[in-house]
Amino acid sequence: MKPRILVTGGTGYIGSHTVVELQNVGYPVVIIDNLSNSNRDVLDGIERISGIRPDFVEGDCTDMATLRKLFQDYPGIKGIINFAASKAVGESIEKPILYYRNNLDTLLNLLDIMGPEDVKGIVFSSSCTVYGEPDKNPVTENTPIKNATSPYGNTKQISEEIITDVINSGAPFKSVILRYFNPVGAHPSAEIGELPNGVPQNLVPYITQTAMGIRKELSVFGNDYDTPDGSCIRDFIDVVDLAKAHVIAVERMLDDKSKEKIEIFNLGTGRGVSVLELIDSFMRSTGVNVPYKIVGRRNGDIEKVWADPRHANEVLGWVAATPLDETMRNAWAWQCKLRERGVM
Ligand code: WQD
Repeated sequence: MKPRILVTGGTGYIGSHTVVELQNVGYPVVIIDNLSNSNRDVLDGIERISGIRPDFVEGDCTDMATLRKLFQDYPGIKGIINFAASKAVGESIEKPILYYRNNLDTLLNLLDIMGPEDVKGIVFSSSCTVYGEPDKNPVTENTPIKNATSPYGNTKQISEEIITDVINSGAPFKSVILRYFNPVGAHPSAEIGELPNGVPQNLVPYITQTAMGIRKELSVFGNDYDTPDGSCIRDFIDVVDLAKAHVIAVERMLDDKSKEKIEIFNLGTGRGVSVLELIDSFMRSTGVNVPYKIVGRRNGDIEKVWADPRHANEVLGWVAATPLDETMRNAWAWQCKLRERGVM
C-alpha cells in the first residue's frame, strides 16, 4: 500500500490532473481546496477517469487549525504537493497583500506541520516566471533568477527561498521544486481541464472560448517583438505530461532516491513556440477557425522564454512527449464537453 499524499489545490487545473496520475499508480490522495478558483464537480471528473474518488476537505491552508484537523482525520500522509496559491499575474499587481498572505501563509503552515506529522517531503509548484526575461534561451535551472515583475512571481521566488531556509535549518524532510513553463491542454478523456473564472487571462482557454463563439475574437498582444513572426515565444507544456512529472517527484522523495534535500527542475518541452504558431496549431489540428486581431503589447509580458529540460529528462527520466497538435485537440475536446454540459 502506497502512502497517502496530500494535494493542496487539488481541484484546480494542474492539481486535478496530478491527482488522476497519483491515483492511477495507487497513491491514496486527500485534497484540500478552498474552491476559490475551482469547484467540487472536478471530483466527479477525477473519479470518472481513475475510478477512485479522492478524499476531499473544503478548507484553507492559511488556517492552521484546518490543517491540524486534516492530519488527524487522514493519518499517514507522507508526501505533500502544494498547488494551493493565487496565480493571476495581473490580479497580483492589484491585490499584493492577498497574494503574499495567501501564497506564503499556505506554504509556511505546510512547512510548520510537516515535521511534527512526519511528512517526508513536499513538491512545490513554482514557475518559469522566476527567471523574468532571460538573457538567453533555453533556460536552465542555473539561469540567474531576476527581480520578479509581479507580486505573483515574487511569491514564487520567496517561496523557494523559504523552502531552502527551512530545510537548511535541519528540517527532517526534503523538497522538489518544479518550475513550470506554460501548462496547456486537458486530459484526453475531456473529463477535466482548465476552467478559468470569468474572462480567461491565459492564451489557450481564450482561444478555445473564441473558437466556441463565447468570445468574439482573440486579441494577440503584440507582433512587434524581436521574434521570427513578431509574437511572443513560450514553452507550452501538456498538462498531463506535467502531472506525470509530479508523480515521479513524489516517488523520488519518498524512495529517498536523491542525496540532495532540495532539487529544482524546469518542466518544459524545450521547444519555443510563438503565440501565432500556437493559434495556427490549434486551427490546423481541430479544423476550427479562431478569429483574432493584433493589438498592443500586454504590460509585463516576457518576450521569449523556453526551457532546457535536460536536467528533468536525465535525472527524473521524464520527457514532455505530447505533440502540440494533440494537446490543442484535447483542449478543444474539453471546451466542447463544457458546452455539452451547459457549463459555458
Ligand atoms: C502567453 C502568451 C501573451 C492571452 C502566465 C504566468 C505563468 C503561468 C502561466 C501560472 C503571452 C499571449 C495571452 C491573450 C495573447 N501562470 N496572449 N492573448 O503570461 O506566459 O504566463 O500564465 O502558473 O506563471 O506568468 O501565459 O497564457 O497569459 O500568455 O496574445 O488573450 O500569450 O501576450 O505572450 P504567460 P499567458
